[in-house]
Amino acid sequence: MECLLNILRLRYSETNKKMNIAHRTHYAGTLRSEQIGQEVIINGWIDSHRDLGSLLFFDVRDRAGKVQCVVEPTDATMYLYEEGKKLRSEYVVSIEGTLRKRSNPNNKIPTGEIEIVVTSIVVLNEADVPPFVIEEEVRANEDLRLKYRYLDLRRPSLQKNLMMRHRITKSIRDHFDSRGFIEIETPMLMKATPEGARDFLVPSRLHPGEFYALPQSPQIYKQMLMVAGLDKYFQIVKCFRDEDLRADRQPEFTQLDVEMSFPDEEMVYEVMESCLRKVWTDVGLELPAFPRYTYKDVMERFGSDKPDLRYALEITTLTEALRAKTEFKVFNDVLEKKQGRIAAVVVPSGATWSRKQIDELTEVAKTYGAGGLVWVKKTVEGIDSSAKKFLTPELHTTIADACKMNVGDMALIACHEKWSRACTILGALRIEIAKRLELTKNKSNVFAPLWVLNFPMFELDEATGNYNAMHHPFTSPVVEDWNARTEDLAAIRARAYDIVVNGYELGSGSIRIHNRTLQTEVFDMLGLSKEEQETKFGFMLDAFRFGAPPHGGMALGIDRIAMICAGTDNIRDVIAFPKTTSMQGLMEECPSPIDPKLLTELKIIIGK
Ligand code: AMO
Repeated sequence: MECLLNILRLRYSETNKKMNIAHRTHYAGTLRSEQIGQEVIINGWIDSHRDLGSLLFFDVRDRAGKVQCVVEPTDATMYLYEEGKKLRSEYVVSIEGTLRKRSNPNNKIPTGEIEIVVTSIVVLNEADVPPFVIEEEVRANEDLRLKYRYLDLRRPSLQKNLMMRHRITKSIRDHFDSRGFIEIETPMLMKATPEGARDFLVPSRLHPGEFYALPQSPQIYKQMLMVAGLDKYFQIVKCFRDEDLRADRQPEFTQLDVEMSFPDEEMVYEVMESCLRKVWTDVGLELPAFPRYTYKDVMERFGSDKPDLRYALEITTLTEALRAKTEFKVFNDVLEKKQGRIAAVVVPSGATWSRKQIDELTEVAKTYGAGGLVWVKKTVEGIDSSAKKFLTPELHTTIADACKMNVGDMALIACHEKWSRACTILGALRIEIAKRLELTKNKSNVFAPLWVLNFPMFELDEATGNYNAMHHPFTSPVVEDWNARTEDLAAIRARAYDIVVNGYELGSGSIRIHNRTLQTEVFDMLGLSKEEQETKFGFMLDAFRFGAPPHGGMALGIDRIAMICAGTDNIRDVIAFPKTTSMQGLMEECPSPIDPKLLTELKIIIGK
């Protein structure tokens, strides 16, 4: 009995010792030479270990960084040396020791001047050999890392990103709190939205055959909060969209959603711009002033409504310069069309580009709808071009002058009978040229924000011939345009605005419609029947009968903010548990089939 009690006591004290994790004195990565001579206790993971026979070194890592630990095999510490030799990568340990100056400092890490002379090693948990080495320059492919995301997240750069993300959301909350905005949670189970095709649906058990939708955004709720008189709202909120993924998109993402009553555009610009400037400052970065461009401006000058302004490569419109002066059929056909546009983008020092390089760019232009490209090269010998047969020397000079070409430059000219298509072609060329000239290399900490204003209210869907809302159907039109409207709905500008940074759309918003009649007219123009208007937005139209204040706001993508601040172009790098581009969670293996019993209970039959 006595013997058994002793064993139990021993086990208890060992367990207790092993569980003795509350006594951490420091995070490993925070230790510095100021603490030399101090007794310290750290808890963390074995990052690397080296047995030099007479000396044992190992690094312990925690979320603050790593520090070197050393065991010197003196007679008194031989047991420690034996214990230390058993350590393996990713073992969880509690280490006690005295801090001393390192004889061979490592200036690559912040703790490089010091080391812990170990006096106690407690292994809190062992670890199997990980499926990939946890190191900064990771070699494992992303799918394997996503499957073992909890191991991937041990990498300092990912931990840094998540900590930065925390600072971003804290900064945002402080900003809006200080400006009198209140954070209000809106439902996650809601009615399917107008863009219903992209809703994630949730079946209702109590109402078989009926579904909730997860919010694509809290747009309708925030407008209702304004009708309710809450005046200034914000929320950091999860949104869900079942759309094709790209490097900057996730099916589940986070928005900073903002709405205010009685605003004009300037009030929204000010509160959002100052928020972003504060965020950048709070994470140790600097955000320059936001120039403002109209939608028409950015499309014509940069060929995109989300241009990367870290580089110039501005597009030159040649339509008027060439009108009535060219014999070139390709140009003349375009010039005949009301919407036709001819424009060029200059490749600095591009006169030396080879035929092959130009052909590759022509292929890019063709994928966006161009028939081909004309090149014009300015060299010391004069001006040469691929359309020499059709363009007079005077026209060549006109083009070179209009494009402000220097000797050694090459202009690439594209045209299309549709203005927007011509813009997109040149925008794609601009991006491709920037890529080839490596214009954004080493520029991940350079930021070029801008406002894009006055988007068109409607855009024509060429496939159906119907008009769609370019932003969403609650956006207010510019009054003069609305009053002067004709058949051409695309000519009506909206009171809508976007924030763009480094080629990413960071956010969008608008001044909303708060008038029931106007909202109904817009729904009519979008082809919504009265019945559809009633079933989809009846409550909103109702609400507008009871004193809706003028209101407006904006939403920013938090993931994209974090991505840009972290200097990565992969949105998954700033999300703890992201989905793959095929929308799967590889770690938890979702989506996954559902137990047929559950389907029966939900009265759902899976079709083929
Ligand atoms: P919008 O649809 O433009 O506007 O969304 C606002 C911002 O949210 C981010 N975002 C995304 N981020 C990651 N993955 C996605 N799939 C994704 N989709 C959007 C972008 C985008 O600019 N209700 C309106 C806002 C308003 O009018 O107030 C809305 O949701 O950064």
